Amino acid sequence: MQKKFKQGKKLAKFIIRGAKKLKGELKINGAKNAALPIIAACLLVKGEVQLKRIPDISDVKVMINLLEALGAKIETFQDEMIINAASVNTAKAPYELVKKIHASFDIAGPLLSRFKEAQVPLPGGCVIGGRAVNLHIDAFRALGASVVLEHGLLKTRAKKIKGNKIYFKKISVGATKNALMAAVLASGTTIIENAALEPEVVDLANFLKQCGSKIYGIGTPEMKIEGVPELHPPIESYKIISDRIEAGTYLLAALITRGEIKINSIDPKFLEALLKNLEAANQKIERGDDSISLKFQNPILPLEVTTMPYPGFPTDLQPLLTTVLTLAKGTSIIEETIFDARFNYIDELRRMGANILVKNKHVLITGVESLTGAPVEAPDIRAGAALVLAALSAQGESEISNIEFIDRGYEQIEKKLNSLGAEIRRI
Ligand code: EPZ
Repeated sequence: MQKKFKQGKKLAKFIIRGAKKLKGELKINGAKNAALPIIAACLLVKGEVQLKRIPDISDVKVMINLLEALGAKIETFQDEMIINAASVNTAKAPYELVKKIHASFDIAGPLLSRFKEAQVPLPGGCVIGGRAVNLHIDAFRALGASVVLEHGLLKTRAKKIKGNKIYFKKISVGATKNALMAAVLASGTTIIENAALEPEVVDLANFLKQCGSKIYGIGTPEMKIEGVPELHPPIESYKIISDRIEAGTYLLAALITRGEIKINSIDPKFLEALLKNLEAANQKIERGDDSISLKFQNPILPLEVTTMPYPGFPTDLQPLLTTVLTLAKGTSIIEETIFDARFNYIDELRRMGANILVKNKHVLITGVESLTGAPVEAPDIRAGAALVLAALSAQGESEISNIEFIDRGYEQIEKKLNSLGAEIRRI
């Protein structure tokens, strides 16, 4: 899916002059992975929903286009958005938009709930690994819907959405979100067992609660949802939570350049798995009420890290941590357990001088003195950001192509990094 994103776009590149220490403060944006399902959830709400702290990234633009294509009216002003989905009159999502981002599958649950049917193109494979939808299908079926997959489409319909028990045999962020959105207007009670605990899932549940849903056990593995007849807009404009992955990216950017940083507007709890590991790597971390500070300490010690669902170490930070560990004193081991193809950037890091071995789900990283600038290609959002980090630390100049991937998830990454002392040009 991600591979096709660049079609029809003018390709941009970053030219990065490396080996410059980053120093300063940054404010973090609203979270991409919370904003996307919350925008989709507006399909369920009667009236105008006001959202705040929407990140200005291309994945959000695709989600806006998708809702507009279904008939919603959307106005945006700076980081605020007003969505009125009253005029949506189709449950068929257009392939051209859905194929661009995996998160567009988030509309399946709301469409099924609202129209008692939905026709959504399958998200298909993607550069970070297979993206199955079996758990989404299990959830829809449990709620009384029939589901067929044909001609690349998921087609689902139900006479009535009925509350039921949904047990996920594997933790899935996307399936938990779709199950929740499909269940809030169901008749009767739904129990979701083995629900994902990611802060972005919690934010979606909190948004739905503000709209009148009855959801209990938010942030626990078992959520109980008592169906209500309709949802209303939140009384106040709903503010999206901070992007923990963006925050982690900038912390790691400061670390790899041997610098120091204070990240504001971020709850340190969201990043505890990263912060603990950074402390184990000999780094100095200060947790504030709504901020995190990091100061580089020599040396960066090697780590052994396994990616896990929240509150474990996030797969989205795996490429970024691996990149930092290329400069650690010793050998680190990273195990990726969430996606099956998330080492797609390793060859590019090797071209910059990293010493890395890949074996199935593991990478073995032996630290080197420094990386060297090279022309490299961003393979996806987080791997693209990881290459930016490598280039920031590297001796000489790097050219990163395919940066459209990075723009999918990071708002003005070069502007933020340059404000800390980086030298990045977009051409
Ligand atoms: C979300 O993807 C995020 N995307 C991803 O962020 C993140 O990497 C991922 O969760 C894990 O934290 C959004 O929120 C938009 P999953 P999602 O369903 O929902 C398998 C980024 O860079 N699975 O938890 O697609 C699946 O194949 C991104 O911001 C099934 O087997 O993740 C994967 O291996 C990329 N069957 C694993 O579960 C299913 O029905 C986790 O997927 C669904 C998933």
